[in-house]
Amino acid sequence: MKRVDGKTALVTGASRGIGRAIALELAREGAKVAINYASSAAKAKELAEEIKELGGTAIIYKADVGNSKEARGMVEAVAKEFTHLDILVNNAGITRDGLLPAMTDEQFSQVIQTNLCGCFYCTSAAIPIMAAQSYGRIVNIGSMNGQVPAMGQANYSASKGGMLAFTRTAALELVNFGITVNAVCPGYTETDMVDAVSPALQTIIKGKIPMGRFAHAEEIAKAVLFLVADGDFITGQQINVNGGAYM
Ligand SMILES: NC(=O)c1ccc[n+]([C@@H]2O[C@H](COP(=O)([O-])OP(=O)(O)OC[C@H]3O[C@@H](n4cnc5c(N)ncnc54)[C@H](OP(=O)(O)O)[C@@H]3O)[C@@H](O)[C@H]2O)c1
Repeated sequence: MKRVDGKTALVTGASRGIGRAIALELAREGAKVAINYASSAAKAKELAEEIKELGGTAIIYKADVGNSKEARGMVEAVAKEFTHLDILVNNAGITRDGLLPAMTDEQFSQVIQTNLCGCFYCTSAAIPIMAAQSYGRIVNIGSMNGQVPAMGQANYSASKGGMLAFTRTAALELVNFGITVNAVCPGYTETDMVDAVSPALQTIIKGKIPMGRFAHAEEIAKAVLFLVADGDFITGQQINVNGGAYM
């Protein structure tokens, strides 16, 4: 028996990076997976094919999680397609870095809208579905940079710090519906998001990580799998997967 056999999952932002690794891990462990993407249709299709080749079930769904109507419509459509929705991973996220004196309203609001409002829209839409099942596992992908200050990321830090606060209150409010809400906070992880950082800065950042390297996306996915497969008595918590960079 696989660890999430018979379960269904929606992973937002699963076409690339950490979301992709989470979708693959859940599928390998028996879940039917909905792969959400915003623009990378080819990559989402490729992942769905990979999952099908492994004998799993995957569907793809295009939606901007920062758009309330699209996000809510997606959650409802996925639950309908799978007939139930057990696992929601709020992973989709963006950066629009800039130092505060030069940060525009647009840079700030885009990041809050996608990272924080997107998490609210999807969670909010999942609540009645999961409450009716008396079962739900919600995992929010936060960030170490929502726990520590990060130059040029006031918008991103605020969105991720907000996600952690949201996680705790949601956990408290939803506990009587059989729904757990937790967060996984990655440190720097080898994805397109970190590839955008200059090699010189990457070397400086690695020097501050006790384990001396960035995370592999699969290492973040394993923490998510643990919470949804084995975390029945865990709610309102965060697991830091950061090589010891924040203790
Ligand atoms: N990489 C890191 O070092 C790191 C560290 C800590 C936390 N995180 C967090 O981990 C999560 C994943 O990061 P990543 O590094 O894997 O990022 P990534 O490689 O840039 O991938 C981002 C994913 O999010 C999707 N996405 C972006 N905006 C979206 C929207 N409005 N609606 C739906 N999907 C959207 C993208 O879809 P498309 O491909 O269609 O654009 C893509 O699948 C994020 O929440 C990020 O903040 C990352």
